[in-house]
Parts: sequence; structure tokens; C-alpha cells
Amino acid sequence: MSKELMRQNIEKAQREIDAKKEIVGQGRMRQHYHFMPQTGWLNDPNGLIYFKGKYHFFYQHNPYEGFWSSMHWGHAVSEDLFHWEYLPLALAPSENYDNHHQGGCFSGSAIEHDGKLFLMYTGTTNNGCGFEQSQCIAYSEDGIHFEKYEGNPVLKAPEGVPGNFFRDPKLWKHGGTYYVICGANKGGMAQALLYKSEDMLNWEFVNVLAESRGEWGYMWECPDFFPVGDKYVLMFSPMGGGERTSVYLTGDFDYSTGKFYPVVSGEIDWGFDYYAPQSFEAPDGRRIIVGWANAWDWMPFWKDWGPTYREGWCGSFNLPREVVLCEDQTLKFLPVREAEELRQSCKERNEVILGEGEPLALRQGNVFEMKFRIRLTESTARKISLVLRVSGEMKTEITFDIEKAEITFDRSRSDGWSKGVARSPLNLMGKEYLDIHIFSDKSSLELFSNDYKNNISCNVFLPQEDCKNYIAATGGRAVIEKMESWEIAKTM
Ligand code: FRU
Repeated sequence: MSKELMRQNIEKAQREIDAKKEIVGQGRMRQHYHFMPQTGWLNDPNGLIYFKGKYHFFYQHNPYEGFWSSMHWGHAVSEDLFHWEYLPLALAPSENYDNHHQGGCFSGSAIEHDGKLFLMYTGTTNNGCGFEQSQCIAYSEDGIHFEKYEGNPVLKAPEGVPGNFFRDPKLWKHGGTYYVICGANKGGMAQALLYKSEDMLNWEFVNVLAESRGEWGYMWECPDFFPVGDKYVLMFSPMGGGERTSVYLTGDFDYSTGKFYPVVSGEIDWGFDYYAPQSFEAPDGRRIIVGWANAWDWMPFWKDWGPTYREGWCGSFNLPREVVLCEDQTLKFLPVREAEELRQSCKERNEVILGEGEPLALRQGNVFEMKFRIRLTESTARKISLVLRVSGEMKTEITFDIEKAEITFDRSRSDGWSKGVARSPLNLMGKEYLDIHIFSDKSSLELFSNDYKNNISCNVFLPQEDCKNYIAATGGRAVIEKMESWEIAKTM
């Protein structure tokens, strides 16, 4: 009976998608190469996995309109992380443990077990005392059609953890045993709780893998835990973590106790629009993360989700990024090399002297990739700026302030809609070069700098097709050793 209800709810949602997808697909603000839904709302990446020869992306999804509501899991597959085929929705609310009308099937992850694709997700319900969250299982033989486990939920909030702060299970396997961490809150502090299982159905508590002492907020949304090199990384999006949207801690993990000992912390992205990243392993061993290019209304800098709801959609993913461990245990995040396959009509210039007050015109438009290598040893400029999407009064300005050692991303005049200036430190100590790598899509900009350690992702809207882009130097000249730019093929 309940199997039947999920099927009906998926079919209903699917009919809605089919009826709207063509018209929604014509939206002017739709992304060209960042993953997004066919219709409606998308938030967190869920269940990212390489399974039977394809990458699978699932996503928090409300197919009905461009706003968050009762959550379904959307589903798409790809062979290269950029060209996607949408599949039927994987999960829809249908059971008493996941049918909260303002909740549904919340975030979770995927793993292969016994040749089947298993999902663990958070069911949300209301049994009279507000939100109750528990962890539930669904599985599939063909990787397309899913069935919820009849013994759900498999994990309930432990004593002392409020029922509305127990969610976002992330699975992995180690030495024949399955492990999962869930975000939780205890006594006002964020925690990552660790459980283990031999069969994916029966779970036993191991330990509090890590917890906040206040500095990392009161709840960790979408925690993720994975090895890179000989270290372990814990990533999460902290609630109550100030301006931070997604954080990593690197350190050592002891499987015999289930305790993580972090040594280094850092920010995955310094922009306004990089949240709830999830990781997965590519077949060649790379650890790749994908984030949701947006934020929540409880965050200090939040304004809104942008104007795209008028086109019947909202939300896209940031570019997939490869996680690389550095010698000092910090991490860098490189756009995956598959993105290079999308490059078209390359322009390259070498040894360009950028004089003070003489901005240099770059490739026009708003769908491009650009790279700059600036020789600091011969540059006297105090500031180097990218002035992008210039059209009438509108512009987005990214400034590398060499004196202040800071990058600012000013989108307050981008589109008459977006607000705020995102900031990141700019660490040039002992460096010969300033490296800039930037991706622009219809509704977002992603900046990578400082050897891919200081990255800023922000959404900017209302594209002007004919907009202009410049690079400029202030307070002296800048020597650009090499600059390259490309158009990017439309894949979405
Ligand atoms: C993070 C999050 C998760 C939750 C999901 C609901 O963005 O709040 O904690 O599972 O979104 O859509």
C-alpha cells in the first residue's frame, strides 16, 4: 500500500515537471553549465555517487514551484559531470515518518551494498510535538526506481538530542563495515554522531565523532567525513557559525574509538552562495565535492533566493571541485578537469602590461572561463580589479587588494537585486604570482584564487547578453604574464 503511495506521488510530481519543463527551460536566467533542476526548487546535493558506470546526482527538490516546500529527491545521471540526463524522481514523501507537509524527504547520501543502490535520508514528520527527524533507508536494484525499507526509520534521535536537530546522514564503508555520521545538537552545541552497521539496516551508536565548543555553531547541517591522503576531513555547514557557509577540519581519525582529532580548520568557500557540500569518490580515486549555490534565510548576510522563481525555478549546484590535501594539512579545491572539455574559442595573451587607469577589455558576455597569472615581482599596483558584467550602471567588481591582503566581491550593483560584499583574505606572502581563475554562468560567478584556497562563489542575476568585462590596475601597473579565456559550451 505505502509503496503504491510513493509511486503515485512521484507520478504526480513527474506530470507537473513534464507539463512545465519546456517553458521553464526557456528561462533567460537559467544556467548553461551548472547543474540545475528541470522545474521548481533545488537545494542540497544528495546521494552523490559513481554507480555502475555513471555519476548519480540526487537533490533536495520541490518540483512544483521555485520555493522550498515538501521535499522530494530529484535524480539525474551523467558520464562527465556536465551533460546530465534527468531520471524519474527517486523519493517522494509518502510515509508517516517522512510526510511532514513542510518537510518530506530531507538530505542524505548513497552507497552500494549487495549490488544495490542504497540511500539513507532524513524523514521528517510531526507527531504532535513539531518537527521530528529520523534516518530512513531506500534501495534500488536498477539505480532508478527506489523502494523504502519497511523497517524504517533505522535511527531515531538519541536522548538529549532535540527531534528537530538530527539529520543529513552521510554514509561510507571501511573494512567491510558501514559507517554513517549525522548532524545533531546537544546542549546548544553542534555534534556529528557516528553509527556503524554490518548490513545497512541495523545500526549501532559508536561515538560523538566531533563537536563544537561554541566556535562552530549549534548545529552542523550536512556533515561529511572522508579520507584525503593519510588524513581525514570533516566538512559541515554550521548553523550559528556566523558568516561561514561551509567549513572543513583536517586531522586524524581513530576507528577503534570513533573519535576525530582535528588539527587544521578552513573555509571551503568565502562567498554567499556555497552551502551543504557533499563529497563522493570518482572511479579514478579523486575526492570531489559539490555544493548548493545558495544560502538560508537564517544566515546573517542572507537577502533572498534571487529573482529566478519568476521563471519557475530556483537553485543550482556549484562546479564540482576536487579536494587536494596540502603539506600543511590545509585543503585546496580545484574545479574538476572535466570542465576543460567544455572550453571553446580560446583567446590567449602573454606579457601584457596593465597601466594604471587603463582598464583592459576582456571577452564580452556572461558565460565564460578566464585565467590570469600576474607577476607580482614587477607589478606596482595596489589593487587589481575584475570589473565584470558591465552594462549601463550595472557591474560586479572583484578586487584583489594587495596592500590590505584581501579579496572583495562586490555584487551590490550587479543587477539591481543582489546585495552585499563577500570578503576573503588574500595570502600573497612570499608569492611571486597572483593567480585568478574565474567561471561565469548566467546566474553565478565562481572565483578561485591563492592556489585554489581562497574561493568565492556568489550568485548574480539578470544577465545582459552584451555585457562587457575588464581588468584594471589601481595605484600602479600590473604585469600579466599570461591570460586565457574561453566560452563554455551549454550543457544544461
Ligand atoms: C541544508 C538543509 C538540511 C536539510 C535540508 C532540507 O541545506 O537544511 O539540513 O536536510 O536542507 O531541505
